[in-house]
Amino acid sequence: MKDYEHDYPDHTETPGFEHGDEAPCNSSANPTFYEVAETRYASRRDVMIGGLAAFIGGMIGAGMTGRAAMATTTSTSALMGFTPVPVSTEDTVTVPEGYRVTTVLKWGDPISGHMPEFSLDNTGEDQAHQIGQHHDGQHFFPIEGEDPYHGSSADGIHCLNHEYVDPRFLHAAAYAGNALRDGEVMVDADGTRPDDHVLKEMNAHGVSVVRIAEQEFGSWAIVPDPRNRRITALTPMEIGGPVRGYHKLRTKYSPDGTMTRGTFNNCAHGVTPWNTYLTCEENWAGYFANKTQYDQKPDLPREHARYGVRIDRSRYGWELAASGADEYVRFDATEKGADATEDYRNEPNGFGWVVEINPWDPESVPVKRTHLGRFAHEGVVFGKVEPGRPVVAYAGDDARFEYIYKFVSDGLYVPGETDGSILDSGTLYVARFNADGSGEWLALAPGRNGLTPQNGFENLADILVNTRLAADTAGATKMDRPEWGAVDPHTGEVYFTLTNNTRRTEAQVDPANPRAQNQFGQIIRWREMRDDPAATSFSWDLFVIAGDLATSRTFTGAALNEDNIFACPDGLWFDAGGRLWIQTDIGESAQYRGDVEPMGSNAMLCADPSTAEIRRFLTGPVGQEITGVVTTPDQATMFVGVQHPGATTSPEDYAAGNFSSNWPDGGSSVPRSSNLVIVREDQGIIGA
Ligand code: FEO
Ligand code: CA
Ligand code: CA
Ligand code: CA
Repeated sequence: MKDYEHDYPDHTETPGFEHGDEAPCNSSANPTFYEVAETRYASRRDVMIGGLAAFIGGMIGAGMTGRAAMATTTSTSALMGFTPVPVSTEDTVTVPEGYRVTTVLKWGDPISGHMPEFSLDNTGEDQAHQIGQHHDGQHFFPIEGEDPYHGSSADGIHCLNHEYVDPRFLHAAAYAGNALRDGEVMVDADGTRPDDHVLKEMNAHGVSVVRIAEQEFGSWAIVPDPRNRRITALTPMEIGGPVRGYHKLRTKYSPDGTMTRGTFNNCAHGVTPWNTYLTCEENWAGYFANKTQYDQKPDLPREHARYGVRIDRSRYGWELAASGADEYVRFDATEKGADATEDYRNEPNGFGWVVEINPWDPESVPVKRTHLGRFAHEGVVFGKVEPGRPVVAYAGDDARFEYIYKFVSDGLYVPGETDGSILDSGTLYVARFNADGSGEWLALAPGRNGLTPQNGFENLADILVNTRLAADTAGATKMDRPEWGAVDPHTGEVYFTLTNNTRRTEAQVDPANPRAQNQFGQIIRWREMRDDPAATSFSWDLFVIAGDLATSRTFTGAALNEDNIFACPDGLWFDAGGRLWIQTDIGESAQYRGDVEPMGSNAMLCADPSTAEIRRFLTGPVGQEITGVVTTPDQATMFVGVQHPGATTSPEDYAAGNFSSNWPDGGSSVPRSSNLVIVREDQGIIGA
């Protein structure tokens, strides 16, 4: 059992489990759709839900055979011109015929381009000048610095998230020979951890901001630039928006509640219309321990308990650093002092936010934009922006039975003038997906939807610090782990991946989350009323229910086939041509076994949103997930993240030096997260 999952003894029975997943924390009594719509469920024939309603009926009944499913294959898309690649279990990256793949921005590469060179015994200080581990959300900003999607296709500032670390590979020199699990750290006999190990882990988290340029077609390298910098778990940050200065943010480090240090578990990202980068704090809660007790029982405030802050030791034990230095002990949120300015009881409240980073100013202090809510932020994606209209952003809370949110600004977008402060005032909403294919955005604001002092919400800052509880109160729909979102550049429709939820029971099934013990996931989409991103109602359907030959369906009613079966959709991105790129994240404890065995290694697929045709474009090496994708403006170069290769290595194999992956360096090397660079031999548009 993984020690940070100690509270959830059945986690190894959970096929979708992946490193650092939060436990289900939502014990609110919101009715499930099944309860409110039970009678409509069987007879629903809504046009938006269409083919999938029939399929769900089929799943409840006799189901489909693989042969029948295969007969529904189509191949008519005008958007896609490549031949799909087969499922793979090889320790390599596969791309379609006519494509080439290389790597750039490997974990440990120096951001100066030169020093300190990568080696297994790099120090914590070295790591502060190197690319972090576990690549995730990312964006290529063309070097002109004017527009996030226009400009150079050969030179730019790349922003890259580093979601978490695997200490047994990060400390490969010090840990060699020990039987260690994925994610496990070694604690000394006196209960402390060496400072330098903690420092290296903190510096391998966060975000890399680094200039990269094409050397020759298909080959890229880091370029020295004064803007190159690492944002880490130690970087000072401003608290912005309504929560700035709120009493629940006061700490010894920031007695007035306006600052905190660092960002971590940066999963997916966002790109603002004003050309800055957003990074999202996902499974942050487990990085803290709060051992406060009352009457010999754990006594956590709701803003810790509802998010899963731990009650003994944190995930990596950063609070155990031998020196007891302030930047480390803050991960112990136990009440120790006379009030909040004398300890770190409020430190976890500085996390769970979306953080804005200005890649163009290396002196700029990142800002936590608190009006976007506090939860396990997967990523954030902007609705179509129009001058003179509000700015709208969508975000998912990736934990089982959590919610999808939308922020609508008070201010109106003015190109060239609007900056990140527009995210500091507006309205945060949470989604309710009705059984008839309609939906509503429920405002999380003082006095709205039950969010009153009588119900325990003293003001807007309190609502935002306790976003999950506010959404419970408002009556939002509990989803199957919302991951990335993407907005169709042609239609404005919004797509979200729902990666899996093996804990949903038959009684909890609803039309938006239509399967119990959901191992495979689905992709939901919606269209805002009158195509206005700021609208408070919408209509929705399911784009695809993932799975194998027998259990999958697209919205046309076709099953998936050998060219496109997939499970656990996570990364999601629309390119400028309207191709939908889908990345998969079958958790490392589930990979290559059971019902997800036919899907092999995690992969990236390409979909045509109008026809529902899907083709597998890329397969990754052993034990990784594919996450993070963007192209250059000309769409001739694509960057894709490969996270945690070798995570499937068993403790015994680790001790013996037999890693399940040696990608990308080969031989018997330690596996390294890395970015891929993908081009076509004919220099054409990727995917076309
Ligand atoms: Fe970090 Fe939800 O994936
Ligand atoms: Ca993962
Ligand atoms: Ca993810
Ligand atoms: Ca995931």
